[in-house]
Amino acid sequence: MTIPVIDILIVGGGLAGLRAALELSGRYGVAVLSKVHPVRSHSIAAQGGINAALGNNPEGKEDTWQKHAFDTIKGSDFLADQHAVEMLCREAPTLVYEMEHWGCPFSRFPDSTIAQRPFGGAGFPRTCYCADTTGHALLNTLYERVVEKGIRILDEWEAVCLVADDETCHGVIAFDLRQGRLMPIAARATLFATGGYGRVYLHSTNALINTGGGIGMAYLAGAPLKDMEFVQFHPTGLVGTNILMSEACRGEGGILINSKGERFMARYAPKAMELAPRDIVARSIATEIEEGRGFQHPLGTYIKLDLRHLGKEKITRRLPGIRSICIDFAGIDPVEDPIPIMPCQHYSMGGIDTNEKGEAGLKGFFAAGECACVSVHGANRLGGNSLLETIVFGKAAGAAMKTYLDNNEIIPDIRLIEKAWIETEQKIVRLSRNNGERPYTIRNELAKAMSSCVGIFREKKELADAIEVIEHLKKRYAMAAASSSRRHMNYDLLGAIELESMLEAAHCIAIGALAREESRGAHFRRDFPGRDDNRFLKHTVTRKGKDGKPVITPLKVTFAGYEPTERTY
Ligand code: FUM
Repeated sequence: MTIPVIDILIVGGGLAGLRAALELSGRYGVAVLSKVHPVRSHSIAAQGGINAALGNNPEGKEDTWQKHAFDTIKGSDFLADQHAVEMLCREAPTLVYEMEHWGCPFSRFPDSTIAQRPFGGAGFPRTCYCADTTGHALLNTLYERVVEKGIRILDEWEAVCLVADDETCHGVIAFDLRQGRLMPIAARATLFATGGYGRVYLHSTNALINTGGGIGMAYLAGAPLKDMEFVQFHPTGLVGTNILMSEACRGEGGILINSKGERFMARYAPKAMELAPRDIVARSIATEIEEGRGFQHPLGTYIKLDLRHLGKEKITRRLPGIRSICIDFAGIDPVEDPIPIMPCQHYSMGGIDTNEKGEAGLKGFFAAGECACVSVHGANRLGGNSLLETIVFGKAAGAAMKTYLDNNEIIPDIRLIEKAWIETEQKIVRLSRNNGERPYTIRNELAKAMSSCVGIFREKKELADAIEVIEHLKKRYAMAAASSSRRHMNYDLLGAIELESMLEAAHCIAIGALAREESRGAHFRRDFPGRDDNRFLKHTVTRKGKDGKPVITPLKVTFAGYEPTERTY
């Protein structure tokens, strides 16, 4: 078979991937490869909104992109790279209006401007929204445009290996799920926009597809990861299913109540209350539960998110998705009853180490969106900044790939691709031999270890235990096998393939968390409860070492004049 060579391969059909594709269409041949149909990408699940300092809200007329940048940097516990944050916030209004002009049906104020609601850690109400289905609206808007431009989409194709030598990326080996074929694709430039790794945890708001494949493949191919220890726990996941109960619930006025009937956020963030940043609200809820002020439920101890005072009309207009999820999945109507919630994993602040152009440590390799760490979120992301990141840095990566191809005569190394193709084939044969341990048992143990030892509160012994478990699971993985060797739509086999990346991502998270002997943003060490700028105002860069274990090195945070201060709300 002749190996196809394309100019630009985008892996991931969510917002970052599609926005990059739009930037590239025309001059170069572009293909978007997506493990699900693009409008089933996890971007679709984003609910609450996208931040931009438009100043449309009567309470937010004074807002500016600089204030948005300050809030983001403070929210990041000063770990974000400040020039990157400035770019994020400066570009936000233009790119949100671009989405509006492309047809995104934003909710409106009575004067017909884009509506904006308050969100956590923000000095002004700057979160633009489409009721509580903002990701859905944005993704469909981009998808329609991608279709209109005739961009090629390979849906239900999953990249399973990034092919690179020590310096340069040459393409991927992908699995065509419907045909059950392993396909080599040589590309002159490759973008990963593959999303996060939420399913490494037991309780996550993430879709089942979020297995950290892009992060794991990049790491295994030699690209550096950054700040992997920073894992965001969303304060309000629906108890039992962990479905996201958007921050928009609190933005619209929802309150949190413990079993003593207290609005307990007054103890932790007296000014911002429920609209403190996520790390603080999630820790506060976890503390209330730990100290015995939660409500008991067969599916877990919970706290109440009360929306009843908002009234039926407001709930139905602003939070229709939340209402129907509660009715369908918890059997309660938030108009009548409080919502039972608990914190759960939501977002990966860390990821593939990139700069503002999406360049990701290997020539011809780029990353954008949640799988990338630019870093604009530092130690804690503000709600509403991830949708923004996808369009700002998806666009920027697309532009940078165009420049890269304009200025470089690239011929992918076909022999290297062939070698990787054969090795991947051998790996898949091994994983489908049907006489090893079933991968899901390993995966379940991994998720349990991550949730119990690398969660909201961390300490040395538990982190060391988690690392031991992960290293042991990696050994068991070497002997694991799916139950059937069939290639066609065999999700057991795919799960077995994906598990390798999950184990690598988890290992990097735990190693980074053990090494960071301080508390910053979402990383809270009980044994080091304070922030330590002298030792740790720096990024953690992780590479695969010669012995196969992660090796970490520090990297300077870049500053643009926002001095670290104590973070109170
Ligand atoms: O709570 C939410 O609606 C999530 C928003 C986000 O993660 O940015």
